[in-house]
Amino acid sequence: MIRSHVIGSGSALPARRLTNEELAAEYNLDTSDEWIVERTGITQRYFAGEGETTATLATAAARKALEMAGADASEIGLIVLATATPDNTFPATATQVQQALGCNGGIAFDVAAVCTGFLYAIGVADSMLRIGHAKKALVIGAETFSRILDFEDRTTCVLFGDGAGALVLEARESGEAQTGVLGTKLHADGAHCDLLHVDGGPSSTGTVGKLRMKGREVFRHAVVNLSSVLKEVLEETGVSAAEIDWVVPHQANARILDATARKLGLPMEKVVVTVDRHANTSAASVPLAFDTAMRDGRLKAGDLVMLEAMGGGFTWGASLLRL
Ligand code: COA
Repeated sequence: MIRSHVIGSGSALPARRLTNEELAAEYNLDTSDEWIVERTGITQRYFAGEGETTATLATAAARKALEMAGADASEIGLIVLATATPDNTFPATATQVQQALGCNGGIAFDVAAVCTGFLYAIGVADSMLRIGHAKKALVIGAETFSRILDFEDRTTCVLFGDGAGALVLEARESGEAQTGVLGTKLHADGAHCDLLHVDGGPSSTGTVGKLRMKGREVFRHAVVNLSSVLKEVLEETGVSAAEIDWVVPHQANARILDATARKLGLPMEKVVVTVDRHANTSAASVPLAFDTAMRDGRLKAGDLVMLEAMGGGFTWGASLLRL
């Protein structure tokens, strides 16, 4: 059976790192390192500076992923880029990455599912690879949420950061080892779109707008939706939670990671956690965490890895793969 296999990963962070104290001082916020760490697990985040954009971060992550894969940009026939903070309303940031990498001629487009964006991108790219649209794809999550934060709102601006992550997927025979993407489930429920949204856009206000969130309600939905979609993927693939080697979750809040792992009966030692260092980088968080664990040697060939995320919309999803 032809399946999509991860053959490389890469990530990129902006040059500028801000600790909780530095963030509070710079934006004159009535908050503390203690509050942020206790409620979220976040100790620092990276913010894009001059010349750093979603496209430049995405391109840097993609280059590293291609290098790990030993693939040339010319081999990439498909780029799916998940972002809620594109450089421009159009063209798609994916085409800007395509131009920067010099692999013009294939397919390139963005998907918008906010923090679930990378899972949607994996789902779309996997389907397209399996039906033969391309042999190799770059799947990227990249964001510059610092540019849509309201720094007068301490309940949201302390939670997010900027960054990018990328995977190179290759369509090839899965064989007896049952490698590659084994199953993906995606969901959306527009009934809750007001709980996490941006209050502007090209067609509604003609402005970019700022992020607005009812954090406590989002938290409640996140744990319920994530546990349910994880169970769905396990059922569909016939895998038990105990067989999972690693969970690479969306990094929104350490307490959500704890609660979701507990619901599945998974020990935290199997959960890749980067929210402390990166904060919530929306669509970039899953591939950023994946690349961190690839490069520090935790993720190894043969491992069963679950990716999961939940975000604005609401949207949520999970994907199980064997490396
Ligand atoms: N610093 C200090 N105090 C803060 C603060 C900050 N940065 N932000 C909020 N507070 C205060 C609130 O004003 C409130 O004060 P009050 O009790 O005097 O009214 C108090 O802390 C508790 O606020 P609450 O919103 O109930 O806290 P919480 O425990 O729910 O934590 C979040 C807030 C945002 C960290 C938490 O709800 C959360 O993580 N939600 C999910 C968010 C998320 O993951 N979103 C992305 C999904 S993709």
